[in-house]
Amino acid sequence: MANINQDYLKLPGSYLFSAIGKRVRAYEEAHPEKRVIRLGIGDVTQPLVPAVIDALHRAVEEMGEAQTFRGYAPDLGYAFLRKAIAENDYVKRGCDISEDEIFISDGAKCDCGNIQEIFGKDNRVAVCDPVYPVYVDSNVMAGRTGKYDEKTGRYEGVIYMPCTQENGFVPDIPGEVPDLIYLCFPNNPTGAVISKQKLQKWVDYANDYGCVILYDAAYEAYISDPDIPHSIYECRGARRCAIEFRSFSKTAGFTGLRLGFTVVPRSLEVQGVPLWPLWARRHGTKYNGAPYIVQRAGEAVYSEEGRQQVREQIAYYMENAGYIYDGLKAAGYHVYGGVNAPYIWLKTPRGMTSWEFFEHLLSRANVVGTPGAGFGPSGEAYLRLTAFGRREDTIEAVERIKDAGIL
Ligand SMILES: Cc1ncc(COP(=O)(O)O)c(C=O)c1O
Repeated sequence: MANINQDYLKLPGSYLFSAIGKRVRAYEEAHPEKRVIRLGIGDVTQPLVPAVIDALHRAVEEMGEAQTFRGYAPDLGYAFLRKAIAENDYVKRGCDISEDEIFISDGAKCDCGNIQEIFGKDNRVAVCDPVYPVYVDSNVMAGRTGKYDEKTGRYEGVIYMPCTQENGFVPDIPGEVPDLIYLCFPNNPTGAVISKQKLQKWVDYANDYGCVILYDAAYEAYISDPDIPHSIYECRGARRCAIEFRSFSKTAGFTGLRLGFTVVPRSLEVQGVPLWPLWARRHGTKYNGAPYIVQRAGEAVYSEEGRQQVREQIAYYMENAGYIYDGLKAAGYHVYGGVNAPYIWLKTPRGMTSWEFFEHLLSRANVVGTPGAGFGPSGEAYLRLTAFGRREDTIEAVERIKDAGIL
């Protein structure tokens, strides 16, 4: 008789965004005259840039001609895209990463979730708290954790690294030594960034203790401060201890198109075993590649026009971030993030829990945020707002929050 993976039963019921969706729908049904503005879910609103659309059209035409039609993509992705990535994202920044260390995929979520498969079940996992839930949930599904404790909001066996106002939302090295360390900068949900000096400390620590850092840089394109690292490979020794994830979703509006990549350096080994062949094996066995037309669209992001157009789009979102950050700060709120990241981490006023504040914003300002508790216990006194909305909505949302008299 078949049986199920019992580890799935450890996952608590409602997924954060469906819980939010339910409450918003209930409010809208009860108040059909109100226009609710959503600054909660991290999806983009601006259309794909012209350079990407042109590349898509050209690639579609190629697919309609016998001479230029393409079937399955190469296992690791097309060379034209891997070359563009290696040159622009790494070599130009002084990182020693070659095209053959880049694995193209259909987005960072799958890669962040799947990477744990190449590691033993007994690895101890460390995550930031608050955290992008995929890192934790994928390890729960794989049986690498104990039970979920409703009271603490934590899984047994996971090392949680609190990211608080006191440590600038950058985790301290934990008391017990982990094996796998998930780091994400610029951070979702806090919008915090890590300095090169602090990131170097993590790299040195990982090399000293034989840990692997799983570095999620999905939001690197939002960094404007020249001293903040875009890649972990800007640090000495990172080729020996780190895997990096990147995404075209927030960089170029590909959330619906789907494209990302993972960097596994050839020199990265665990107990003398190189990880590159393991990830290549996993990729080749379980994945059949991002579509040709989408990889051509990704290549166009690195063209001169593409770079310029994407930069303008990111500037648009970061101006939204500025409206939210400055507006709410001037109104007396404590706000974090929003400078090198498209997320604003808003402290709940008057000691409210994050769900209480969520309800206040929804009912009094008709604005939807994401309660920080959904990202982990250290998010309890915060709410995440995103800069991915339309300009008019963003400005109106800020005005409504200011006028709602919640403070
Ligand atoms: C930190 C982080 N990593 C990865 C992803 C997933 O990106 P993708 O759309 O490429 O799957 C997201 C998306 O919200 C994210 O916030």
